[in-house]
Amino acid sequence: MNILIIGSGAREHALAWTIRKNPAVGELFVAPGNAGTAGLAQNIRITATDIKTLAEAAQSLAIDLVVVGPENPLALGIADHLNSLGIPVFGPTKAAAQIEASKVFAKELMLKYGIPTARSETFASVEQARAYVKSQRPPVVVKADGLAAGKGVIIAQSREEALAALDDIMDKRAFGNAGDRVLIEECLSGREVSLLAFTDGDAVVPMVPACDYKRRDDDDMGPNTGGMGAYSPPGFFDDNMIKLVHDTVLQPTVRAMSSEGRPYKGVLYAGLMLTDQGPKVLEFNARFGDPETQVILPRLETDLVEIMLAVVSGNLGQIRIKWSAQSCVGVVLASGGYPGQYRTGFPIRGLDALPPEIAVFHAGTRQGQQPGAVLTDGGRVLTVVAKGNSVGEARSLVYKNLPAIEFEGCHYRKDIAARETV
Ligand code: AMP
Ligand code: GLY
Repeated sequence: MNILIIGSGAREHALAWTIRKNPAVGELFVAPGNAGTAGLAQNIRITATDIKTLAEAAQSLAIDLVVVGPENPLALGIADHLNSLGIPVFGPTKAAAQIEASKVFAKELMLKYGIPTARSETFASVEQARAYVKSQRPPVVVKADGLAAGKGVIIAQSREEALAALDDIMDKRAFGNAGDRVLIEECLSGREVSLLAFTDGDAVVPMVPACDYKRRDDDDMGPNTGGMGAYSPPGFFDDNMIKLVHDTVLQPTVRAMSSEGRPYKGVLYAGLMLTDQGPKVLEFNARFGDPETQVILPRLETDLVEIMLAVVSGNLGQIRIKWSAQSCVGVVLASGGYPGQYRTGFPIRGLDALPPEIAVFHAGTRQGQQPGAVLTDGGRVLTVVAKGNSVGEARSLVYKNLPAIEFEGCHYRKDIAARETV
């Protein structure tokens, strides 16, 4: 069986690493991949949004399954295009991926079907949005409707901040068309957790829960990033909570998507806030999370390819998915300056002397000229993951080994999973 993974982050490296465990997998390709995926698969130089070229490659390489990592190709309809060519694909159609690509769509769906979420108003007019902000007591949350690479959500502590966010999104078009409409939401408080599920459009099987860290600096300070670390499982989110979220969020959402004529297949990711009134949805994603995937997949004991094929063929209800009781902690090593301006091309040292309990998933890396040389090539460079018998053990292990990995400007948070272990 030949498989093509689309994307170039640590999530895609973790997918490749997990898929490689299946001996029936023959050729494995990643487009475009990174220096890490090059060690497990063949990288092909096609960007993740070049759907036409990706589909041609899938045909000429006799690909049996395409696995889509990031949201943009899904929102552009890669699954529809591949399906029309008869190529099996793990990931939702364009119509189904609207659950991530339009926050207005997701909000209306949740309202219509009684799925718990923050109260919110939608505006297409900046004047009306401004008037509404002036009538609200801060804090409020301002969200661009469309995809904005994780930057389209502003928690405004004051009216001025909310008005500035509206200017950026709707007037200055900081995120282009994604800012045609905005949502202005009540600000929820509580602990956050990500619960992802596999679904074939009917059966919905939650994965193990995880927490990610979006701010750059310790204690959740500094600017927002694509994610600076993650761990699984959070001790505060037990099996009863998983069942509650399955019953009140995940299953009803998948059913709702079917009712709306948008059957949903792939991974449904619920970003949740655990409020005093129970778990509420902050966002849905139509794919695996990054960096959550890097701490979830190492805990998977069932074959991932088997799960993906069951999702594609609508047989997910017939398999049992097992997870390791062990814990994982993952820390992202980033380039100096990230998420702002940063330089790339620095050699990364210390990757080959790590103990077996440590897995390194590459993101912004590329191969250097010398054999085995790896250079930085992006903002988030690596996710370093340790597995242990507890979150505390995994956390100690990962932080003990991180100093061995070096590149110029490297920075990382020191407090990933710290609250779990006090
Ligand atoms: P999202 O992309 O919608 O998940 O938002 C990014 C981050 O903003 C979330 O992970 C939360 O930390 C925060 N956030 C989003 N919506 C709200 C809300 N209604 N209240 C408080 N925080 C929120
Ligand atoms: N970890 C958040 C995301 O993947 O969108």
